[in-house]
Formats: sequence, structure tokens, C-alpha cells
Amino acid sequence: MKTLQVDLGERSYPIYIGAGLLDRAECLTRHVPASRIAIVTNETVAPLYLAKLRAHVASFQPLEVILPDGEQYKTLEVLNRIFDALLAARCDRRTTLVALGGGVIGDMAGFAAACYQRGVPFIQVPTTLLGQVDSSVGGKTGVNHPLGKNMIGAFYQPRAVIIDTDTLKTLPDRELSAGLAEVIKYGLIRDPEFFTWLESNMDKLLARDTEALSFAIHRSCRNKAEVVAADERESGVRAILNLGHTFGHAIETGLGYGSWLHGEAIAAGMVMAADLSQRLRWLPAADVTRIEKLILRARLPVRAPGTLAPARFLELMAVDKKVMDGRLRLVLLKRLGEAVVTADYPRAQLEATLASRREAA
Ligand code: NAD
Ligand code: GLY
Repeated sequence: MKTLQVDLGERSYPIYIGAGLLDRAECLTRHVPASRIAIVTNETVAPLYLAKLRAHVASFQPLEVILPDGEQYKTLEVLNRIFDALLAARCDRRTTLVALGGGVIGDMAGFAAACYQRGVPFIQVPTTLLGQVDSSVGGKTGVNHPLGKNMIGAFYQPRAVIIDTDTLKTLPDRELSAGLAEVIKYGLIRDPEFFTWLESNMDKLLARDTEALSFAIHRSCRNKAEVVAADERESGVRAILNLGHTFGHAIETGLGYGSWLHGEAIAAGMVMAADLSQRLRWLPAADVTRIEKLILRARLPVRAPGTLAPARFLELMAVDKKVMDGRLRLVLLKRLGEAVVTADYPRAQLEATLASRREAA
């Protein structure tokens, strides 16, 4: 097992990474302060991993909350089912919420933990690659709104993140690829050496080579932990973690949540951000090609859906948490391995990117 630390003063916490960690109960139980836990999961993950987790925490009277599966259920209405279950079972303010699942479950259980009785302890047990390399670390929690992705939420850090890499064995190929989008992101925004490593090892990752996956998860978490430690609440550098997200969230909201996977939308969005960076003469064309090639090799889309007209795309992009004083800030690439957040780009260049980087309608 490898351990990383997210350094946030008194809210610091460990990320444990290893094969078979669901069987090492002490990783979890040492972070549970009282006698009760509530496991939040979904109807796909429950039959795979709930029994195993339950067996190890039987002495904590585990309450089980099983939600429907899918991004379209990441809503306030479904969130309320967690509160219903906690209240019906009379869970008190020392009950620890455990998120067992992908990013949707992690974001929702985390938000529930932030709100229930004004905050209860929370542990992340991510079971998708995307969850393991990104969403379980850093304390962003929340739900979607029909008008905008992740628009309702809170910063709320977990007490620990427990990454059992064995859970990836049951993950569908399409979900593995979606997670690779966020892995590639770290290479693009701050770790060019990792980007080169990914170019050499993409086939191993797709073949689920254990060593390659563990390396990629560890390196991704290290990058994320460093950025979060520097800027927990995204008043500055943390925004670079949103490379491709303004474009991607527009795709997710525009097509309807769950149509494209989050990672797929981010993949196309990162190519669009690279395209705009090239138009600003920051990124050479050869680097845009490199980025596009790696994303394609990860079996991810590199263009926005043709059904989203550029005018509609712009409207959707305007509902973004990086909008400040009415100006849409974007994460762009100064060079491969260095991201910047800027509102300083000509609107015509953004429109050119939207027009050129879409599939035929
Ligand atoms: P997801 O949670 O929908 O999981 C993907 C699918 O895999 C689901 O059907 C799920 O039931 C299934 N699944 C989970 N683990 C499995 C396993 N081990 N074996 C088989 N199937 C399994 O999607 P995701 O890609 O994990 O997360 C996407 C969400 O994460 C989005 O809502 C996105 O906004 C959010 N996100 C949050 C952050 C953050 O910082 N909080 C960062 C990135 C993404
Ligand atoms: N996934 C973006 C962030 O955690 O800041």
C-alpha cells in the first residue's frame, strides 16, 4: 500500500492506494470517530462491493443507502433520499458517511455529509478510475441543476480516501477510458513528464496492467493533492484542474446529464482548449496533434457533438463557476504542461474553436 497526504492543516487526510484495501478494514475504521457508519452507494456498485465492506464494518451498525445509478440522478431530489434514510435511522452527528462508488456517489455523499446536522465525518472509497484519480480527492461535493452542472454544492474534505485498485477489475471499458481523460489532464496542466509517460504506456493502461494503473493513480493523486493543498477553495491555481471542463460541462448539460460520460465530455473539452491555445499562438500545432492523438488512443472523443450548435454552446458555457463579473474565464495551455486561467482571449477565436472542433451534425 502507498500513502499520500493532502496537506490542509487540521483538515489534512491520507490517500491510501493499493490492491485489496477493501479487505483491510483498519484503513477505514481508524478514521471513524464513533460507533455508527452509513454507507452510500448505488444499485450497480452494491452487488459488487457492499457485502465485502459491510462484513468488515459490522460492529459499526452500518446503515446502507442505495441510490439509483447515473449522472441523471445527481440531483437535490435524490440527495434527499440520503437525508431521509439518515433521519429515519436516527443517525446522530457523529455518524460517518462512507461513499462507495464513482464520482457521482462521492459528490453526493460528500454533500450530504457537509449538510447533515451541519456536517458529519466522511470517508471516500472510490471505485471508478475517475473517482480514484480525481473526484474523491479535494473536497468538492455537490449535485447538478438542470441549468448547470455541479452548481449546488460545498467544499467538504473527507477524513480519508481509500483506493482499492482491485475494484477497477469490474469497471466497464468505457468508464476506464473516461477516467483516463482526467489522468491525461494532469500531464497537460502541470506534469509534462507524466504526459510523455502516458504516451509510452497508454496501451498498458487500457489493458489494465496493474503496475501501470497503480503508477498512474498515484501520480494523478499526487498532482491533485499538491494543487488542492496550495488552493483548497479555488481562489487561484486550483482552477487549472478544470482544463476542458467549461467546454465539457456545456456538452453534459446541453446533451442531458448521462448522455456523454463526464470524462468523455472533458476529453473533447481539453482538445477544444488546446485548439484555442493554438489560436492564441501559445501552443504549437504539433502539440495539439500530440494531445489529440493521446486522447484518441485512450478511446475518447476529440470533438464536441455536432448536435450542439456553437451559439447554444456559448450560452451553456456562460453558466460556469469560473464566470467572474460577467466574464468567462477559461483554462488554456501556455505550453504542454503549463495551464493558465484567463478571460483574455478574443471572442472570435473562441467561436472559431467551437465551429471547427465539432462533429458533423
Ligand atoms: P459514476 O459515478 O457515474 O460511475 C460510472 C459508472 O461506473 C456508474 O454506472 C457506476 O455505477 C459504475 N461503477 C462504479 N464503480 C464500479 C466498479 N468498480 N465496477 C463496475 N462499475 C462501477 O461516474 P464517474 O466517472 O466515476 O464520476 C463522474 C462524476 O464525478 C461526475 O458527476 C463529475 O461531475 C464528478 N467529478 C467530481 C469531481 C470532484 O472534484 N468532486 C472531479 C471530477 C468529476
Ligand atoms: N476536479 C476539479 C477540482 O477538484 O478542482
